[in-house]
Amino acid sequence: MSVAIARTVSELRAVVAQWRRSGATIGIVPTMGALHDGHLSLVRKALERAERVIVTLFVNPKQFNSPADLIAYPRTESEDAAKLAPLGTHLLYVPDAEEMYPAGFATVVSVSGISECLCGAFRPGHFNGVATVVAKLFLQAGADFAFFGEKDFQQLQLVRRLVRDLDIPITIVPCPTVREADGLALSSRNVRLSPAQRAIAPKLASVLLDTAERLARGSPILPTLDEARATILAAGYRELEYLELRGETDLQSLASLDRPARLLAAAWLGDTRLIDNVAISPIGSWSGARSSLQSEAAQQLR
Ligand code: PAJ
Repeated sequence: MSVAIARTVSELRAVVAQWRRSGATIGIVPTMGALHDGHLSLVRKALERAERVIVTLFVNPKQFNSPADLIAYPRTESEDAAKLAPLGTHLLYVPDAEEMYPAGFATVVSVSGISECLCGAFRPGHFNGVATVVAKLFLQAGADFAFFGEKDFQQLQLVRRLVRDLDIPITIVPCPTVREADGLALSSRNVRLSPAQRAIAPKLASVLLDTAERLARGSPILPTLDEARATILAAGYRELEYLELRGETDLQSLASLDRPARLLAAAWLGDTRLIDNVAISPIGSWSGARSSLQSEAAQQLR
């Protein structure tokens, strides 16, 4: 079993045009490859929702802060294709850097407000690179639906803002974070953890879930967040870039839990940077919030 591959915009558009003539709906799952079960959950959701599914594999140079990181990023096209074929993926789109950014490429897509905070403060230019490549992929493929993981929550909200602001006719479908049995969010970076670090790693998820529950029950925000930060460092994380309570859609700081919120964190375990986030429901809907959090926790920690 194998999957068809398009390597140029014109090859991609020829396939999409044929699908359109047959009236099929189209889903796209943008990735940088090195696929794990988190990525595959997006592909499965896409296959449920759309009649034809494109998975893109492109290690986007514009979103890397360091050239060394870009070079070190795993490129595993044949392994990725072998994982995607049995699921029923219809097309892999694997452009190279010259196809995406031909000589003279000069445009930057920038989503202000959402790009500069949280991860953006520590990775300058990163989200402009993401917004630029995602806008290009959407315009190249002309799909009806695009699937993004909540694992990268800031990226998800950036993409939602982008398609609204630029009137790109595509529906963004959020997909829940896939976790290991102990709660650690799946990430291609997890393989870099030593056994000792791997044992500490799930503490990030468990502190976020516990803190979300306490905040939703009415614990005072600032001291509760400070306690969470201290617990993560005490567990053995080397550095905490941020642990913040933010409004769900605009990602702005919240002084009170008066609207849907998200708790987000980025932390270093040795030389590995891990990110995670969980939902919080406003006070007043706490009985609902607790049961949904409990089911989220149970599902995530299963
Ligand atoms: P990448 O890191 O390869 O991730 C591709 C998609 O998989 C993203 O939508 C991401 O949120 C999702 N994903 C990763 N780990 C997940 C997990 N544990 N559970 C659920 N979904 C998960 O994100 C990118 O690539 C790039 O920035 C990209 C959008 C492709 C633009 O270059």
